[in-house]
Amino acid sequence: MKSLVDRLATLHTLDAEGYRALLECDSDTESHLKERARDIATERFGHGIYVRGLIEISNYCRNNCLYCGLRRDNRNITRYQLSDDEIIDCCAKGYAMGLRTFVLQSGEDNTLSDSRITNLIGRIADIAPKAAITLSLGERSKDSYIALFNAGASRYLLRHEAANRQLYASLHPEEMSWSNRIDCAKSLIAIGYQTGMGMMIGAPGQTTDHLIDDLLLLQQIRPQMVGIGPFIPQADTPLGNHTAGAIGLTLRIIAIVRLMLPDALIPATTALATLDADARNQAILSGANVVMPNLSPTCVRDKYAIYDNKAATATESAEGIASLQQQLNSIGYHINYSRGDFQQYDRL
Ligand code: 5AD
Ligand code: SF4
Repeated sequence: MKSLVDRLATLHTLDAEGYRALLECDSDTESHLKERARDIATERFGHGIYVRGLIEISNYCRNNCLYCGLRRDNRNITRYQLSDDEIIDCCAKGYAMGLRTFVLQSGEDNTLSDSRITNLIGRIADIAPKAAITLSLGERSKDSYIALFNAGASRYLLRHEAANRQLYASLHPEEMSWSNRIDCAKSLIAIGYQTGMGMMIGAPGQTTDHLIDDLLLLQQIRPQMVGIGPFIPQADTPLGNHTAGAIGLTLRIIAIVRLMLPDALIPATTALATLDADARNQAILSGANVVMPNLSPTCVRDKYAIYDNKAATATESAEGIASLQQQLNSIGYHINYSRGDFQQYDRL
């Protein structure tokens, strides 16, 4: 079993049965897996952890994903959209703190037109010279992705959510299309974005076979970033009565993905930190190399309620950057304030 870990660490690919064995491995193999993942990450990135300032610009969403608190049928949240000036203020604040990547994230809000985002990108570039701009605005047309890229956005996060069509269909309303989502991710990569994909762990109905499909898809597409977090129920959604995904399995999958994609940017997600304050450190010790503190104005933070009890203060927040640094120091790591662009170290 340990040789399987070593094979993945050397060749960066496995077949479905190899991934199954790792997803179901014993605790000895799991320790070896995390150790190799951690070593591969420190060989490339040292003990520096990249920081990305996250700005949740709007919680309006035209979609109705069954798991997400921002879904359009949820009448139980107060919707908001930040003004351009508010967004610029957040970036300026983050820039002064040393952050050099800003992630503009929102639900699929129809009013966020290309011209508005393009204009915002220009304004951010003016006040935050040389900072990287990452967008996470959901599915848009290829022309829109091109326009935003040409305006200066260099990274885009669009989790694939589920590589398995049946699982995807069970988590989304009929009008949402699995193939469109995958096509969007492929377009983003083709356009030249550093592209983030990813999935929730422990989503209702998800089996080991589904996770193997996720791993094989990531292995095939090889995105530059992968966001992996546990499913967390949100009470006002159709899946609100299901149990949260397991932290242990999430960490194991982070380690597998690190060995598969040694150069990838892998965040220790807020969802993990929400379930357990120590889980972010454990994710780093399993190969994660990014954290995304929240830069949104404090008054809107509880409104971006994708799931219940979302962590948005202390070490998850930009104000908490000193405590984040301390927490990283406690495991021998530190914040790396550089832009942290994707770099390919090896020819794979
Ligand atoms: N639990 C965990 N993650 C969730 N997301 C949406 N709803 C939930 C939930 N209930 C994730 C999705 C989406 C990202 C913005 O948040 O993967 O892509
Ligand atoms: Fe909207 Fe994204 Fe939530 Fe789906 S996951 S409802 S697209 S914000």
